[in-house]
Amino acid sequence: MAKMEVKTSLLDDMIGVGDMVLLEPLNEDSFINNLKKRFDHSEVYTYIGSVVISINPYRPLPIYTPEKVEEYRNRNFYELSPHIFALSDEAYRSLRDQDKDQCILITGESGAGKTEASKLVMSYVAAVCGKGAEVNQVKEQLLQSNPVLEAFGNAKTVRNDNSSRFGKYMDIEFDFKGDPLGGVISNYLLEKSRVVKQPRGERNFHIFYQILSGASEDFLCKLKLERDFSRYNYLGLDSARVNGVDDAANFRTVRNAMQIVGFMDHETQSVFEVVAAVLKLGNIEFKPESRVNGLDESKIKDKNELKEICELTGIDQSVLERAFSFRTVEAKQEKVSTTLNVAQAYYARDALAKNLYSRLFSWLVTRINESIKAQTKVRKKVMGVLDIYGFEIFENADNSFEQFIINYCNEKLQQIFIELTLKEEQEEYIREGIEWTHIEYFNNAIICDLIENNQTGILAMLDEECLRPGTVTDDTFLEKLNQVCATHQHFESRMSKCSRFLNDTTLPHSCFRIQHYAGKVMYQVEGFVDKNNDLLYRDLSQAMWKASHSLIKALFPEGNPAKINLKRPPTAGSQFKASVATLMKNLQTKNPNYIRCIKPNDKKAAHIFNDALVGHQIRYLGLLENVRVRRAGYAFRQAYEPCLERYKMLCKQTWPHWRGPARTGVEVLFNELEIPEEEFSFGRSKIFIRNPRTLFKLEDLRKQRLEDLATLIEKIYRGWKCRTRFLLMKTSQIVIAAWFRRYAQQKKYQKIKSSAIIVQSYIRGWKARKLLRELKHQKRCNEAATIIAAYWHGTQVRREYRKFFRANAGRKIYEFTLQRLMQKYFLEMKKKMPSLSPIDKNWPARPYLFLDSTHKELKRIFHLWRCKKYRDQFTDQQKLIYEEKLEASELFKDKKALYPASVGQPFQGAYLEISKNPKYKKLKDAVDEKIIIAEVVNKINRANGKATSRIFLLTKNNVLLADQKSGNIKSEVPLGDVTKVSMSSQNDGFFAVHLKEGSGAASKGDFLLSSDHLIEMATKLYRTTLSQTKQKLNIEISDEFLVQFRQDKVCVKFIQGSQKNGNVPTCKRKNNRLLEVAVP
Ligand SMILES: Nc1ncnc2c1ncn2[C@@H]1O[C@H](COP(=O)(O)OP(=O)(O)OP(=O)(O)O)[C@@H](O)[C@H]1O
Ligand SMILES: [Mg+2]
Repeated sequence: MAKMEVKTSLLDDMIGVGDMVLLEPLNEDSFINNLKKRFDHSEVYTYIGSVVISINPYRPLPIYTPEKVEEYRNRNFYELSPHIFALSDEAYRSLRDQDKDQCILITGESGAGKTEASKLVMSYVAAVCGKGAEVNQVKEQLLQSNPVLEAFGNAKTVRNDNSSRFGKYMDIEFDFKGDPLGGVISNYLLEKSRVVKQPRGERNFHIFYQILSGASEDFLCKLKLERDFSRYNYLGLDSARVNGVDDAANFRTVRNAMQIVGFMDHETQSVFEVVAAVLKLGNIEFKPESRVNGLDESKIKDKNELKEICELTGIDQSVLERAFSFRTVEAKQEKVSTTLNVAQAYYARDALAKNLYSRLFSWLVTRINESIKAQTKVRKKVMGVLDIYGFEIFENADNSFEQFIINYCNEKLQQIFIELTLKEEQEEYIREGIEWTHIEYFNNAIICDLIENNQTGILAMLDEECLRPGTVTDDTFLEKLNQVCATHQHFESRMSKCSRFLNDTTLPHSCFRIQHYAGKVMYQVEGFVDKNNDLLYRDLSQAMWKASHSLIKALFPEGNPAKINLKRPPTAGSQFKASVATLMKNLQTKNPNYIRCIKPNDKKAAHIFNDALVGHQIRYLGLLENVRVRRAGYAFRQAYEPCLERYKMLCKQTWPHWRGPARTGVEVLFNELEIPEEEFSFGRSKIFIRNPRTLFKLEDLRKQRLEDLATLIEKIYRGWKCRTRFLLMKTSQIVIAAWFRRYAQQKKYQKIKSSAIIVQSYIRGWKARKLLRELKHQKRCNEAATIIAAYWHGTQVRREYRKFFRANAGRKIYEFTLQRLMQKYFLEMKKKMPSLSPIDKNWPARPYLFLDSTHKELKRIFHLWRCKKYRDQFTDQQKLIYEEKLEASELFKDKKALYPASVGQPFQGAYLEISKNPKYKKLKDAVDEKIIIAEVVNKINRANGKATSRIFLLTKNNVLLADQKSGNIKSEVPLGDVTKVSMSSQNDGFFAVHLKEGSGAASKGDFLLSSDHLIEMATKLYRTTLSQTKQKLNIEISDEFLVQFRQDKVCVKFIQGSQKNGNVPTCKRKNNRLLEVAVP
């Protein structure tokens, strides 16, 4: 099972035992081992009940972070692993909540970490107490008082690079809310001897080195100092520099701190001037001078230094010089001055330096107190922090007056511890209703008494010695001790009863030994008297008082001659005793909290645990004694609630929940566990366990049970997890299945859907196509109809509007052009018209091809017209002639070659003037009808073809042939009997008149005649026949025709004859049947 992060008890994950009260068995070895074990695991804090043992880790540990502060804040003391914060929190909370003043007593030997511990306590309290600008300033001032006091009161020693050379007690004052208001610091026993002399490997107080390293040249100059340490006799040379300590930086820190605390600039200045003066005092050297009176005198070797000191302090040089040379003793209004020898002069010098410095230190404390003192008069809650040397025991007989004093102080602290612890214990028992059992413990009151008893105490004895007139030496003091304390069981000396009894020969003669509660300490008596006297010659204090330097003046009030006090000043011992008494009184009113600091090794090294050294400290710190006192009654106690909470799993009734009161629960629990009755007691609110064993048994059971429970929880958890997982998987499976099914169905549906869509689309497509087809068809029909209609309409419209359209323009233009052309044509024709003569052949040329037919037609019409015109001029006579001419034309034109020649000949008819000519009187009488033709013709003899002239007459009804000479009618033929007229097509005048067969005239046969006017005669014959008989006379035009001769038919044949006969045709009878006419 994983480790639980949250702690509920210091018993959780405990390394060794966190509380020594639980240590079993309890002896020094187990104690050391337990500390060692914890130290090795970086557990530097261990409890003895409410006492915290702190082992200096000599390395920064990550256990003081703000997170840690939060962790310990408002938690119960035993809830978390031991820590200085737990103690600080406990103290602060009982101060704030229960109104109990607290004191935190930090003890331990040099370098054990007391000062660090006190700072940790202060910083914790500062972190958890109230906030706000004012509060923060107070906090800051309280915290910043540390660097100032450390600079002046700490020094590097062989045991500690930052050893506090004074005891310090600081009261931090809070208001009712727990907000800090201010503080008061008390200092004890500054080790002033260090100012003038330091043991090997040690340094003077830090401030001297800090000034020389950190002050500016200017400032140094003002202080009349030089930076070089070696210039000053008071500064031990061997370890002027300390590793890891930056004096210059620290100087700045100190000045800054002084400023924060509230030092004015001039005050700071004065302080440093005093420091400089002290430093310079060390450089004053004396040389012996023999006087005449035989007395030894001393003289200052080099007055330069003295001069500078005087300048610095504003003391008259001669006064100081004198003070170093003489000593004035006043007795009963009498002043006696004695000279000082060199040794005395040095003594005086050192005494002055020491006094100056220690008074300065005290002044600083007072000054700081002034700054940090609470401003209000309201009741304050106080938390005191005491950082004071623990027991100091040097090997051999190196323990001197200081150690004696310190150990006395510790003895007192132990006593107070015993008193308070027991008192508290007792109070708790009473509170809890537990029967008080007697506790065996060592009460060190007897030792305190040995030291501080007003009559027989060592300190009283020492004072007595010091005040006693006569020669007083350390030895006389020891003698006195031997007398008075000889029988005291804690005092030993060579001469004492005890030692003799013990036969201890290791004790040197000049020593005495005290058996402190923490062990035996042997003190070297040398120096006790001097140190107790702490003498400063009056001349020196007076000289100091005379200084114009106000601070120095104030430091030596006894130098004021007006206040001369003949009484001796109190001795150092009695002073200390008094201040210890005050301190004790002060502490007694408070609830004590102890921090016991232990130093794990002498090397200031981390990770080294020196058993012997630790053992030694355990012994003289009386830690085992502490445990015993603490364990005197019951080793362990715990409130019922947390106890039940912690162990309730050990009993079925109380697990997992106890409904009743916690106390009953614990009773049930303890009964169930069968814990022997003498092992525990029930208090009112707490259970008291006598033996740690019982507690460990409980713890073991708890551990076992926890494991079981863990297994159970694990089991249940696993089951639950598996079940949950299974259920989850099941539900997941269902979900997945559902999803899958859904998916599958979706797919299927999709498929069906798409198929349906396809089918549907095909059908729809098909339908649509069908519809489309129909619609298209319909549309086409419509369109067609529309088109037809449109065309039709178009046609209509076009037809209607064609005339308006340009399309007709062509035609119009054409027609127009045509018209114009025609116009032009006609106009031109008008101009070009030929003569009206019908025979005029002229006709203008055709201008345009297209007019060809028109032109011809026009020509024809014109011709007709002019012919008509021409004809219209004719008389009836003429008309008749032309009619005949026309008739002739119709009959012969182009048929008979003779015709053209006849056209120009006028048809006269009656060529022979029958009526006029008397020859033809008889003839004329025979023909009573109008004669149409009267002409001479040649009658061709049918027999030979010879021509005989005859007169040819044509009347209305007859054709007559008469003899030319006689005019006798030879033949008369009615027109009705003439059937035909034949002639050739040639240019001859031959013609035959065929007679009707059977007729009277026909008996002789047909007539073959020749005439120059053939055309005229034939035409008139034709015309007359037609008008008489109403029958057309047949006129045959042929070059071969038959002529009836009597009974015979003779063929008349026309040939193209030669020109033998001139232009006259000749007729010849060729045979009976043929008559040949040669025509030219
Ligand atoms: N809790 C701690 N964590 C880390 N280092 C510590 C702790 N306590 C003490 N130290 C170291 O030990 C050194 C000595 O401690 P500190 O000065 O507190 O001793 P001290 O008991 O006051 O001695 P002295 O009696 O000489 O004044 C410190 O300078 C510091 O280096
Ligand atoms: Mg210290």
